[in-house]
Amino acid sequence: MESFNKTSLNTIIQAHKKQNGSLVSLLQDIQDTFGYLPREALQHVNTVLDIPLSKLFSIATFYNAFNLEPQGKNTLSVCLGTACHVKGGENLIAMMGRALGLDNSEGTSADGKFTIKKVRCLGCCSMAPVVKANDDIHGSMTQTKTANLLKKLKKSKR
Ligand code: FES
Repeated sequence: MESFNKTSLNTIIQAHKKQNGSLVSLLQDIQDTFGYLPREALQHVNTVLDIPLSKLFSIATFYNAFNLEPQGKNTLSVCLGTACHVKGGENLIAMMGRALGLDNSEGTSADGKFTIKKVRCLGCCSMAPVVKANDDIHGSMTQTKTANLLKKLKKSKR
């Protein structure tokens, strides 16, 4: 990941113009480069391509895959769909939030190592409650299993 800079952003915009790609793919390329969609990047796209900021923000907020804030090195998605909610998903996210010093259980830890997100149904309800840690699904989570998962991720080099 690079820190936001206009040189890289202009390269992405030029490549996008040549390919005549969609707005979603442009935003995806920006996020892949900087790790999220910096506000300055969207403002620059607005200026250079004359695309209304409101349109850029509506796409960025419509798709769950886009992030408007910098993300931690590890993303923990805690499912709060019906099955996971019934089986204690709220308790897991509250516990993780406390462990990482996050006021309202969501967001990015001060050390930049973790981002916690609430999600709705990860498609494996029979394993509720479910936590997705980066690309891995962890089912039938308990407080102990969650604490161990956090411990393992804290030690990882990611
Ligand atoms: S409700 Fe959590 S995986 Fe479906």
